[in-house]
Amino acid sequence: MSSLSASVSAPAQVPRVPIPANGVDYRGKIVLAPMVRSGELPSRLLALKYGADLVWGPETIDRSLIGAVRRINPRNGTVEFTRVPSNGGRPDKAAKASVIYRIDPAREKSRLVFQMGTASADLAVQAAKVVAGDVSGIDVNSGCPKPFSTSGGMGAALLRTPDKLVSILESLVREVGEPFKIGISVKIRILETPELTEALVSRLVRTGITGLTVHCRTTPMRPRERAIRDQLSMIADLCHKAGVACVMNGDVTSRDHGLALMQEFGVDGAMIATSAETNSSCFRSEADGGLAPWRDVVHEYMRFCIESENRFGNTKYLLNMMIPGKNKEFNQAKQCKTYTDTCRRLQFDDLVPAAIRVDEDLELTDKWELGPGEGHEHARSKAVQNAMENNESARAAGGNNSRPKPTTSTAHTGGPIRTSTIPEPSKTANADQSTGDPSIPDVQVSQKAEVAV
Ligand SMILES: Cc1cc2nc3c(=O)[nH]c(=O)nc-3n(C[C@H](O)[C@H](O)[C@H](O)COP(=O)(O)O)c2cc1C
Repeated sequence: MSSLSASVSAPAQVPRVPIPANGVDYRGKIVLAPMVRSGELPSRLLALKYGADLVWGPETIDRSLIGAVRRINPRNGTVEFTRVPSNGGRPDKAAKASVIYRIDPAREKSRLVFQMGTASADLAVQAAKVVAGDVSGIDVNSGCPKPFSTSGGMGAALLRTPDKLVSILESLVREVGEPFKIGISVKIRILETPELTEALVSRLVRTGITGLTVHCRTTPMRPRERAIRDQLSMIADLCHKAGVACVMNGDVTSRDHGLALMQEFGVDGAMIATSAETNSSCFRSEADGGLAPWRDVVHEYMRFCIESENRFGNTKYLLNMMIPGKNKEFNQAKQCKTYTDTCRRLQFDDLVPAAIRVDEDLELTDKWELGPGEGHEHARSKAVQNAMENNESARAAGGNNSRPKPTTSTAHTGGPIRTSTIPEPSKTANADQSTGDPSIPDVQVSQKAEVAV
């Protein structure tokens, strides 16, 4: 044995809660925060496209998931968890199943953490089992300060009932994490004093969780108040001693900023919410191009929305966050009630054919605007005609570009057929695909793109 190796003592064993086979390690990651309304599938795909390492879905309440039906959307291969609403006790009106949660297994499953709102170990386990096979981790929201959450004992209320929170986490680890081989984690806020936070975190890290995210604001703090970081190193230490990954959250504005903060405070990961809501390209490092212009980001967002068949109201909500308020296109787009009109207003001509199809699938066509000389029937027939011609030439060339069409617009049966219906954004307008009609944008409809994110 050399004198050197003899003098170097073996490194102290750093404990580490093992990451289960289907789980994911939060260490070294810059991640998208859970955001109700703003964290639906298109936003998550957008964040992944721009470099987010992991994405949290929006908080979903345990009860809403229990009894939900899992189905595959045959048009785009997404997994949809649906429920038929009670319909307000109106038996005369046929209730339509609504999608509670949507997952793109191909592009996000290995990077998706499902976040749950719960105040009961039993309900948490029942709900988690519904989605556990489709996600990489289950996170418990223990930080939401809104009365709708806290009044039911959920969210930040759990910070005051540590016995209950511990029992929820232990049950999830034992009854969901272990059989499904995925990680269980928790997202908390800091408490008023370091001592209170320390007492809470010391218990949470011994429940078998693989990760803990700390939002560096106390429960009463408003989102605009600056995050407080002076408890962070202490929390990271407690996590590390127990082998749990510690993710920081609060006023992290970009990937580079997150990496610098991780270094400064000794935490393992950083989570971004509001900065990503406005412009997801904050996940792109300066070295890779940094923040992208809002138009590029909105174009990509619309593409993912159309591809995911995102509820239009939700799409519009996020567009409000993403498009600068004083922008002229914004004011026009804000009036639109359909994907087709929005794409046309924003001059995303390459997306119009797919927008027309998704409007048909979502039964939005009766809301189409009919501006002078802009009849949608006309637009559709031209676009469809183009698509058919392109499919014909593709078939003649040995390919098959046809888009599987369900027999009815609401049919959601059958197995997973993974087809991307979205044309790649056309940077180079193809003269052959011009509609020749000045009222109808030229479109590139032939490419069938599996969008890499
Ligand atoms: C629109 C919106 C929705 C949110 N929804 C959730 C949620 O579902 N679950 C949760 O734990 N936190 C939620 N939050 C809080 C964020 O995840 C995050 O903790 C907070 O915004 C602080 O991060 P930031 O400073 O980067 O914005 C939400 C925040 C916003 C802005």
